[in-house]
Amino acid sequence: MSRIPKAPLKVVETNNVEIGRRNILHHPPEPPPEFLMEAADNGIYVGRTDILHTPFFWTPKYVTNPHIAIVGISGSGKSYFIKTFLIRASFVWNSNAIILDWAGEYKDWVLETGGKVVALGKGNYLNLLDLGGMRPYDRIEQVMATLGLLTDVGRYPEQKRLTEEAIEEAYVRARFKLDSNETRDELGNPLQPPTLKDVVKILEEKKQLGTYEYPSELNNAIYRLKKLTREGEDYFAQQSTISLDDIVTSGLVDIDLTGLPDEQTRALGALTLIQFIKEKMRQEGAQEQGAIRLITVLDEAWKIAGEENSDVVMIVREGRKYNFSLIVASQNPTDISQAIFSNVGTTFILKTKFENYLDYLQGSLRFSNYLRKKIMGFGVGQAAINMAFHVPLQFSQTFVIKHIEGEEPIKDYFISFEGIEGVPMAFSISIKKNEFRARLRRFGLSDEHVEAITNAFEKAYRRMNVVDLVLQLERYGVDRRQIVDFLKEMGVNDATVIDIFTKADFKREGKKGKPTRLLLKKKGK
Ligand SMILES: Nc1ncnc2c1ncn2[C@@H]1O[C@H](COP(=O)(O)OP(=O)(O)O)[C@@H](O)[C@H]1O
Ligand SMILES: [Mg+2]
Repeated sequence: MSRIPKAPLKVVETNNVEIGRRNILHHPPEPPPEFLMEAADNGIYVGRTDILHTPFFWTPKYVTNPHIAIVGISGSGKSYFIKTFLIRASFVWNSNAIILDWAGEYKDWVLETGGKVVALGKGNYLNLLDLGGMRPYDRIEQVMATLGLLTDVGRYPEQKRLTEEAIEEAYVRARFKLDSNETRDELGNPLQPPTLKDVVKILEEKKQLGTYEYPSELNNAIYRLKKLTREGEDYFAQQSTISLDDIVTSGLVDIDLTGLPDEQTRALGALTLIQFIKEKMRQEGAQEQGAIRLITVLDEAWKIAGEENSDVVMIVREGRKYNFSLIVASQNPTDISQAIFSNVGTTFILKTKFENYLDYLQGSLRFSNYLRKKIMGFGVGQAAINMAFHVPLQFSQTFVIKHIEGEEPIKDYFISFEGIEGVPMAFSISIKKNEFRARLRRFGLSDEHVEAITNAFEKAYRRMNVVDLVLQLERYGVDRRQIVDFLKEMGVNDATVIDIFTKADFKREGKKGKPTRLLLKKKGK
């Protein structure tokens, strides 16, 4: 980094009186031990503080609300902390948890810890028109809002109206009363909610009639919905196979979203679940403050955590009353909406290095430049914790934990790729240790070389930069083509593969000259 800092630090002479006035000499920048350890038998152990080595137990008691934000670069330890937190919360408070698992990175761990995996799109479905205890009128409003977020239907008022009317009609045909949350008919038989397929049918009937005055609006409304009802893509247009009552009280539940084809559809699944969770929360009513009952986890779910007026925001606004807690984690703090950030009682800041992210965090949490520098140099698992206390206290709101002391998760190896500064294209792919070692052997590596690479991973908390891995594999004589196949299998796209090899060549050449495609060709012979 050869950037000139905007306001270079200056060394100035200061007299003792001035130094004496500075808070740091009266209170170390850490809350006192009574406070940190007060929840020793009913809180979540996190780790020891940096200065006084005091064990810290997190509790929702002192903070403005029980929600948690976790930020830090890829590989800094966000998911590891979440896993540790969930295990301990279930042990200490018997908390339930729902993980909206965008990338499928929790499912093996959830199975291993005895939890349940619900794989959406792979045998499990969620009917968008399920009511989850709501009145059809209220649910329709939510469904329209969700469709508006995910498609551009909001820009076409006539199509929006047509869709809304057809959904109402579908509930009526299924014998629901629009303004009642009754789920049984007069004879006490359970009613079955309609699906989007019924809605499409109603619109098509209207088209057949041929009397509607804006046929193209009607056609477009049908077209839009059909994308969600086509055979094989009807993930949200079939009767639900998930019972909402069960999933909020089933211990640890992983909602695996990877069976859904794209970001859009995953967002639809996650948002719908969030809506049901919110509704469930309200139905259960306010609770005495104390143990957390349900923790909802959004890890790297930027698409739904960035929406200012979303149901996620409702959960953070009202969660405290109901002892519902939300954990959001992201590499990029600016992806988490202000509305969520301002309702988060505790922020865990793991290693963060992009200046604009640090500006954002420092601007809202107001920690010192000293701490800012420290955060940039954090190792894996090191964290600064900011707590928004609900009573004014005489000590620092932000303090450092030497190392989050976690529960050993299952053995995953992580291969990471760091983006260019300011361009957060970093990724981290995970592979089971035994699968990875098997793969190394298939590359033709000797036992000795397999051990050497394994050791390198273990020493670095089971992670390695992909560029270093490529260099090491090539040193051991692995063919570049085999490495390319491996990376592609792991989901790395072509452009990134080229980028990785360019960086590898650049690094091997000892950073002489500029990296060029020529180098890539030369090495390929
Ligand atoms: N506090 C910690 N103690 C020990 N290992 C850790 C800790 N935090 C993270 N790790 C290890 O570092 C790797 C990356 O952590 P992970 O939580 O996946 O990072 P992130 O979610 O921030 O990308 C994993 O192998 C994990 O086991
Ligand atoms: Mg992660």
